[in-house]
Amino acid sequence: MTVRACVLAGVGAWLPPDLVTNADLADRLDTSDDWIRRRTGIRQRHVASIGVAASDLAVKAGSRALRSAEVSQVDAVVLTTSTPDRPLPATAPVVAARLGLGTVPAFDVSAVCSGFLYGLFVASGIVAAGNVDRVLLVATEVYSSIVDPLDRSTAVIFGDGAAAVVLRAGTAGEHGALGPIMLGADGESGDLIQIPAGGSRQRTPKAPGDGYFQMAGNEVFRHAVLRMSEVSRQALAAAGWQSADVERLVAHQANARIIGALGDELGLSPDRVLSNIETAGNTGSASIPLLLAQAAADGRLTTGQRVLLTAFGGGLAWGAATLTWPGVVALHPSEHPE
Ligand code: COA
Repeated sequence: MTVRACVLAGVGAWLPPDLVTNADLADRLDTSDDWIRRRTGIRQRHVASIGVAASDLAVKAGSRALRSAEVSQVDAVVLTTSTPDRPLPATAPVVAARLGLGTVPAFDVSAVCSGFLYGLFVASGIVAAGNVDRVLLVATEVYSSIVDPLDRSTAVIFGDGAAAVVLRAGTAGEHGALGPIMLGADGESGDLIQIPAGGSRQRTPKAPGDGYFQMAGNEVFRHAVLRMSEVSRQALAAAGWQSADVERLVAHQANARIIGALGDELGLSPDRVLSNIETAGNTGSASIPLLLAQAAADGRLTTGQRVLLTAFGGGLAWGAATLTWPGVVALHPSEHPE
C-alpha cells in the first residue's frame, strides 16, 4: 500500500536589492564591523525600501516557487510573517490574489522565527490529510519595519527577505517527501522576544522602545542551541535517521555561533552545515527556505541529499523536520533577471 505524503515540489526566494553593510551600521551606532562579524557572523543584510511591504516580497518569492514547481495553480496559500502588511486582515489573501491564484483559502501562521516549520506543519498536514493536493507556503519578513534603528543589539542582526515552497501530495519515500515534523513552544519565556506595545495587552507604547522588536539576546542564545538540538534529535528519531545520516543541516540563520554550536551538538562536520547568514543576516521565518533556495541554486544542495531543518525563535517556539532533497531548480535569491 502506498502512503500519502507531502512532497516539496518547488522553491523560490527573493532578496530586496538594497544592502546595509556593517560599516553603514557603525556610522550611526556604537558598534564595529569587527564586533558584528565576530559575535554574529554577519557582514551585510538586504533591506526593503520604505513602502515595500511583506506581501511585495512574498509575491516575488511565491512566483519563483510556482515557476520552480512548474505550476500556476495551488489549492491553498499559507503565509508566515512577523511583519504583516497590516494588523488585519491577514497578508496571505493579498498574496494569493496578486499571484493570480483566485479565491483559494489563504491564511497567515504566526510563529516568529519558527514560522516556516510551523507553516510546514500546517500545510503538510492539510496535504497529507487529503484536504488539498497542492499548497504554496510563503515566508516573508520586513524586519526593518519593526527593528529599532538605534538598538545596536538587534539592528545589526536582522535583514529583510522572502522565500516560498510549493508542497504537493505524493508518496512516502519519494525525493522531497517530508518526514515527521516536531514542534514545541514555551510561553512561560515568551517575554524574551517581544514587541511589548501595539497589541490588546498594551495598546500604546509606555517607553520609547515598546513599539519595537526586543530580544534578551544572551538568554535567547542558550535556549536556541538547547531547543534546536533537542527537537532535531526528536525529528531524526521520528524519521528513523541517525545524526550520521544528515548530509545537510539547514538551521534558522540566527547567529553563526548558534549554528556552529548546534552543528557541534549534533556531531555534524562543518561541511554539512549550510549557512548564508554572512550575506543575508537573520531573516526570521524566511531564513530556512531562503537558504534552501540559495543552496539549491549554487549547488550546495543536490538531489537525494538527506536534509535536517530546524528553527527557534519568539514564542518561544521551535521545530525540526527531515526531507530528502528533491532536486528542484531555483534561481539565486539575489538574482533579479525580471
Ligand atoms: N556592537 C557592539 N557591542 C554590542 C553590540 C553591538 N552591535 N550589541 C551588544 N553589544 C555589547 C553589549 O552591550 C554587551 O556589553 P557589556 O558587556 O558592556 O554589557 C556586550 O556586547 C555583550 O552583550 P551580549 O548580549 O552578551 O552579546 P552576545 O555575544 O550574546 O551577542 C547577540 C548578542 C544578540 C548577537 C546574541 O546574543 C544572539 O545572537 N542571540 C540570539 C539571537 C537568536 O537566536 N534569536 C532567535 C530568534 S531570531
